Amino acid sequence: DTGEKRPALIPTTPAGLARAGELLRAGRLVAFPTETVYGLGADATDDRAVAAIFAAKGRPQFNPLIAHVPDLAAAQSWGMFDDRAYELAQQFWPGPLTMVLPRPANSALSLLVSAGLDSIAIRVPGHPVAQAILRAAGRPIAAPSANRSGAVSPTTPQHVLESLGDRVDAIVTGGKCLVGVESTVIDLTGPEAVLLRPGAVLPDEMERLIGPVRISAGDPNAPKSPGQLESHYAPSAAVRLNAASAEEDEAFLTFGPDRFVFGGTTRLNLSLEGDLDEAAANLFSHLRTLDESGANRIAVMPVPEVGLGIAINDRLRRAAAPRG
Ligand code: TXA
Ligand code: MG
Repeated sequence: DTGEKRPALIPTTPAGLARAGELLRAGRLVAFPTETVYGLGADATDDRAVAAIFAAKGRPQFNPLIAHVPDLAAAQSWGMFDDRAYELAQQFWPGPLTMVLPRPANSALSLLVSAGLDSIAIRVPGHPVAQAILRAAGRPIAAPSANRSGAVSPTTPQHVLESLGDRVDAIVTGGKCLVGVESTVIDLTGPEAVLLRPGAVLPDEMERLIGPVRISAGDPNAPKSPGQLESHYAPSAAVRLNAASAEEDEAFLTFGPDRFVFGGTTRLNLSLEGDLDEAAANLFSHLRTLDESGANRIAVMPVPEVGLGIAINDRLRRAAAPRG
């Protein structure tokens, strides 16, 4: 039992970032900010460190992790890049894009990172703190979102403390994540490019460079990307979508002008101006706050299915899905 453990809170000073790098090299778990969400980092070449990620999150072993590296040159040692992968990397890295690529046969990455698949998910994050930590660590860092498996992803250090506080060695205390939803995941292991998870890099932006991208239906019986498991990003409260108004016992997550929308014990607005970037940045922290209000159910106003709204609706549908 580790109930007594308290993580070190590490500031984003040069000394703090160097310390985070040392802890990672020593096989410890370090949560750190990226532009999307906070990640739970561990040395991706260290089996024991990677196993500790799965244990801390309660994550099923069949759900593979993303390896984070500081630049394309580093990425090329861990994944096999074809022209499409190279084009996308040039355009969108560093940034909120993860590419699933064939894994070289002689890879020094822990097999646990790939969960037994012959592919590897790789991302070059753009957040300066993430960049500095990756460079200080000097090796690829496996990092899922720093939350318990199936729960809402963290966008502040406080969220990480609340959900994994006793299970992580250190938390690097950067600010709030600017994007707020996890990276776009695209599978380039086959001749057809497949979108596995919508995020801030949009399919049509990628199609301009590499041609057609198939939007994966996300067959829940054969998840290609186990993040496609139906129930995910779930608060404890039930979630009701497409609400025009809220019941008396519901918390209410609104979007756009809501002066003439009624109901809700507690109410938070994703973006009064109807700005989808702002809404994505607020999504997970608002869900957490409404969950903590004690309501049994959270009603959610519709969000337009365009741009980042596609990623927001993807997360909301999973939050509302029947719980396993
Ligand atoms: O924005 C993000 O991507 C954040 C930050 C910390 O970088 N990380 C993140 O990791 O969201 P995670 O583990 O919560 O989500 C990774 C997703 C999962 O849906 C996983 O199934 C999928 O990527 N994935 C990882 N490796 C894969 C592989 N080899 N093949 C298919 N899907 C893979
Ligand atoms: Mg996650």
